[in-house]
Amino acid sequence: MFENIPKNRPFDAYQSFVLDCKLYWTRRMFPELRTRYEALAAAYPPEGPKDVAELMRDDTTAQMFGWFERHMQRMKYSGQHGLAVHYDQYRADIIRELDAELPDHLLTLDPEFQQPEYYTSIDIHQHPGGVWSDEIAGYVYERGAQSTAPMLKKSQSLFHRMTDQALTRAGREVKKVVDLGCGWGGSTQPYYEDHPDIHVTGVELSAPCLRVAAMRAAELQAQNVTYRQADAIKTGLPEGENDIVTSTMVLHEMPPSHIRALFKESYRLLAPGGLSIHLDFLMRDDPFRQWVHNGHSARNNEPFMVPLNEMNIAQAHRDAGFDDVEIVPFEEFDGALSPANTAWRFPWTMIIARKAA
Ligand SMILES: C[S@@+](CC[C@H](N)C(=O)[O-])C[C@H]1O[C@@H](n2cnc3c(N)ncnc32)[C@H](O)[C@@H]1O
Repeated sequence: MFENIPKNRPFDAYQSFVLDCKLYWTRRMFPELRTRYEALAAAYPPEGPKDVAELMRDDTTAQMFGWFERHMQRMKYSGQHGLAVHYDQYRADIIRELDAELPDHLLTLDPEFQQPEYYTSIDIHQHPGGVWSDEIAGYVYERGAQSTAPMLKKSQSLFHRMTDQALTRAGREVKKVVDLGCGWGGSTQPYYEDHPDIHVTGVELSAPCLRVAAMRAAELQAQNVTYRQADAIKTGLPEGENDIVTSTMVLHEMPPSHIRALFKESYRLLAPGGLSIHLDFLMRDDPFRQWVHNGHSARNNEPFMVPLNEMNIAQAHRDAGFDDVEIVPFEEFDGALSPANTAWRFPWTMIIARKAA
């Protein structure tokens, strides 16, 4: 779909330049930064990220690293050939395609929906207007996701890996899944595309994202997915029916009070013995990487990453009704967790709990 949007060489060149810079930042600048940090840390071992910040304050590589991170992302969306700027000129074509009729079962939007205040108060990850306020935001966001984590050869594969983890760990036949904060449907698609016996419901605040998600499902003629506009903490779905409740990259976009409520809603939605599995970013055992992660939070307009990292997740799960929680690294591509991988990566982590049978 969106075949009416012509190829545009200056735009393609600009976007691939931004992506190459991001790759340089990932593979070259980050290891160099680590080397410089280790030299300083040998003399003054840091106890936490604040000490690392102090150690690295006057380091030029550290300053360049931060500048690159913030400005490459800004260029990607808002620069001369940024995604939001570029696709604005095809607004009418995009909206026409999004307006095409969909099968009734696919999408439920709520015209009266009130967005939570935390959500509308920031342009999350520097997306102008956030991913919800512009009718074409879902399309722009889907396109932007292709270069969010450049180490992933195919962003799809991460979603497939996460789906495999959830289905394997469920340890039972899976019939019903809820994907909280499904965005434009990347995390939902492997369930409905590869598992025709599963019914998956994607829940999301942003109508523009949901419209792209539903359009993609319609293209694939999927019968086993439903998208629904709702807050992940109050989905309006029936209690106790699901084998898996999951989310991908959602927790770090909400304040701790919302995260605690999301765990409660996950518990409510699960059938006895069902699996709660959330994929997000936690970095707690390496002060250097924690400093880099906290810096990313500030530089990329993702203010809730830091409080998520500091939260007592086990307690929040117990408060939600779960007995215990497992916090496990997630390998987003083969070899990602190997010491030989010196490139920057998000600290991908699965947060897993089970409702008592
Ligand atoms: C980083 S995106 C991830 C989207 C999708 N899960 C994926 O992996 O591509 C986070 C999504 O969470 C959504 N979101 C944030 N707060 C939410 C909430 N309270 N309820 C439902 N969705 C929410 C955002 O609109 C955004 O689409």
